[in-house]
Amino acid sequence: MATDWFTLRWSDEGVVMLDQRLLPGQELYLTLGSVEEIARAIEDLVVRGAPAIGCAAAMGIARAAVVSEAKQVADLVDDLEAASERLARTRPTAVNLFWALERMRESWRGLADGAGAGVAELRAGLVAEARRILDQDVETCRAIGAAGLELVPDGSRILTHCNAGALATGGYGTALGVVRAATEAGRSVTVLADETRPFLQGARLTAWELDRDGIPVTVITDNMPAWLMQCGEVDLVMVGADRIAANGDVANKIGTYGLAVLAKEHGIPFYVAAPLSTIDFATANGDAIPIEERGRREVAEIGARTLVPEGVPVRHPAFDVTPARLVTAIVTERGLARPPTVASVRALAPSD
Ligand code: MRU
Repeated sequence: MATDWFTLRWSDEGVVMLDQRLLPGQELYLTLGSVEEIARAIEDLVVRGAPAIGCAAAMGIARAAVVSEAKQVADLVDDLEAASERLARTRPTAVNLFWALERMRESWRGLADGAGAGVAELRAGLVAEARRILDQDVETCRAIGAAGLELVPDGSRILTHCNAGALATGGYGTALGVVRAATEAGRSVTVLADETRPFLQGARLTAWELDRDGIPVTVITDNMPAWLMQCGEVDLVMVGADRIAANGDVANKIGTYGLAVLAKEHGIPFYVAAPLSTIDFATANGDAIPIEERGRREVAEIGARTLVPEGVPVRHPAFDVTPARLVTAIVTERGLARPPTVASVRALAPSD
């Protein structure tokens, strides 16, 4: 895998993020020092993809600790709570955001209440925890890749949607992590990337990162999969997830559900690759998953160009829900839920 770029990193000056809005044209890294800047970067899709959003939010909490002028632990904790509340308002569907904020909260409670840490120790502990979350995310993605290997025979032509790659995670990727693992295992695989309107994560991001790794990728428009499946040009579908309910229903980028219906019709396996931090065991099924609505501009404009007459309404849900019955298997770092059911998903949960 290429090592000459990264999605996000901690630095003493701030959180360094590759500005994904500018890809593939420009590779620009932003250094964001304040919680507000980090929250806006998440909202504006500088950094996106559920696991990467979680990593960014964790670093946002660590930055809040570093920049806080609090002299007392109680005041620092107030600042951390305020930061957490701001970050939690950025993107409602990606459950990794809330997972990461909760993990950071557990960390500061453990340090402050449990270990009696002072302000300086609390700051250092939260920076270390945020960095750990990032490192563990990459390890988790590699484990997802290894678990998914059995689903990807040599020669597979894999259709994917949006970007569930290194750019959407701490590195390596979930759906694209499986692709990378197959490639590293010596299998010859090719990827069809849906362009993924409206923000074009497939055309811009999936194509960019796979091309950088030398993995063959072809971009198609979002209305081509049905025909290409009918022509026998797709062997399997592999996508990521923003939130998976306890019964295996999957929220992912708008358009994913349509692909699952098409895959069923054509007898093509439909796989979802995601870390356990994307499974929301507290949400019984997909009906309860909040679906983010984004703004008109993402649909009505491309760059400087207006596509839709002024005054004509547009719809802009960012995600849809694929019922578990359309999912052949969910691939996690702890193995597969195949097929996903309440029991098979529950069996993946770490026992505590
Ligand atoms: O709006 P985005 O770009 O954040 O949406 C991303 C997706 O839908 C991904 O498929 C999902 O977050 C999984 S990323 C490993």
